[in-house]
Amino acid sequence: MNKTAIGVDFGTSNSTAAFIDGTTPVLVPLEDGKFDMPSTVFFDFEDGQRKYGRGAIEAYVGDTEGRFMRALKSILGTSLEDENTYINGTKVAFVDIIAGFIRSIRLKAEEFCGSEIDTVVAGRPVHFIDDDGGADRKAEQTLERIFRAAGFRNVAFQYEPIAAALDYERAVRTEEIALIADLGGGTSDFSVVRISPAGRNRADRGNDILSTGGVRVGGTDLDRLTSLDKVMPELGLNSRLNRDFGDGLITIPRHVFVSLSTWQKIHLLYDKAVMREVKDYLRLSESPHLIERLSHVLHERLGHRLALAVEAAKIDLTDAPATEIDLEAVERGLRVGIDRAGFDDIIGRETRAIQQAMRTAIGDAGLDPARISTIFLTGGTTAIPAVRQALLDIVPDATVVDGDRFGSVGIGLALEAGRRFG
Ligand SMILES: Nc1ncnc2c1ncn2[C@@H]1O[C@H](COP(=O)(O)OP(=O)(O)OP(=O)(O)O)[C@@H](O)[C@H]1O
Ligand SMILES: [Mg+2]
Repeated sequence: MNKTAIGVDFGTSNSTAAFIDGTTPVLVPLEDGKFDMPSTVFFDFEDGQRKYGRGAIEAYVGDTEGRFMRALKSILGTSLEDENTYINGTKVAFVDIIAGFIRSIRLKAEEFCGSEIDTVVAGRPVHFIDDDGGADRKAEQTLERIFRAAGFRNVAFQYEPIAAALDYERAVRTEEIALIADLGGGTSDFSVVRISPAGRNRADRGNDILSTGGVRVGGTDLDRLTSLDKVMPELGLNSRLNRDFGDGLITIPRHVFVSLSTWQKIHLLYDKAVMREVKDYLRLSESPHLIERLSHVLHERLGHRLALAVEAAKIDLTDAPATEIDLEAVERGLRVGIDRAGFDDIIGRETRAIQQAMRTAIGDAGLDPARISTIFLTGGTTAIPAVRQALLDIVPDATVVDGDRFGSVGIGLALEAGRRFG
């Protein structure tokens, strides 16, 4: 049986896999003919199976009894990385959950290619964690362990924005300096690269990579901030509690609301200690009707529904000037309006952080922004008008090229896999 190497872009929000057919990179249809698959897991308590991708979202939203998880890449490099969680009474390590997801991608690719696949070039963000080299190295080691557990014997890594550069390079006719921006769900990554038709054939690109950089800010952070600003106050955030002993009121603690707005932490709330705490809030609250909503969300495990509703509204705002966040699942008729100006305000600090990371990458390349001839955009978060504009403002004279928003990194990783292992 012939063996094939693939590229796997395990993303915070979405994943792809691709391989080289002859000389052409081909994305694997991971789910119903679609190339990108949401990075989701659903432990179905009714049939005992694990489901992934859109199938996992459908099962969860369809009220199947079980546990849903997304954005698990964000635990890499954090203290959660070595932790376990209890699923229907069974202890499961987070790394094994991710390995199961990646194994499902490997098996789909094997089925599609008709050959055994044991070699991978996996994408990684330039920094999993900001300003912590130790945590960053540990995150990569953990990801390597995960890929091995998923059945890959040879595991190599490439920076996600370099992979995107390789995809872009297929199309260029003359040498140029390009800024590659890959803004995803968890991180925003940049590379400044000398791109040329001849470069495609060079094995060692070290001299052509002028800089790489990035920041741990992505679309899931924008979801969190939007949720904290617009949704969580409807569930009691900022409301007040009577003191348990003595007079006076205190503002309700934030931590439950922060976790409920943070994709990778939502499932941690479905825990007896948290339920007890919320029961206390209910007893002491000045606004019990809000805390009742919170309690309902936790009891019915609606946390990811809220996150999905917030994300959907965010995506609406890319094309529409205003929209509503649908909270029907929490309470009949409950909706919260949001317009683009309000959203741009909510994400202002993060937009500036992404912009600053791009400036730093250009500076690290030793270049003036005017030297950048092309800016290549990929990743879902580059669709947001304010974020996109913040990047284009730095290089106003550069040609703007939109890559395949969800496929560029996977295609570039396949090109790298072909070069290293083909
Ligand atoms: N049209 C859109 N407008 C705004 N945001 C969008 C749009 N489409 C997708 N997104 C957001 O883009 C993010 C996902 O992008 P992408 O699939 O590139 O990330 P990823 O590769 O999974 O993450 P990372 O590379 O950071 O690990 C999500 O936060 C999603 O909500
Ligand atoms: Mg990505």
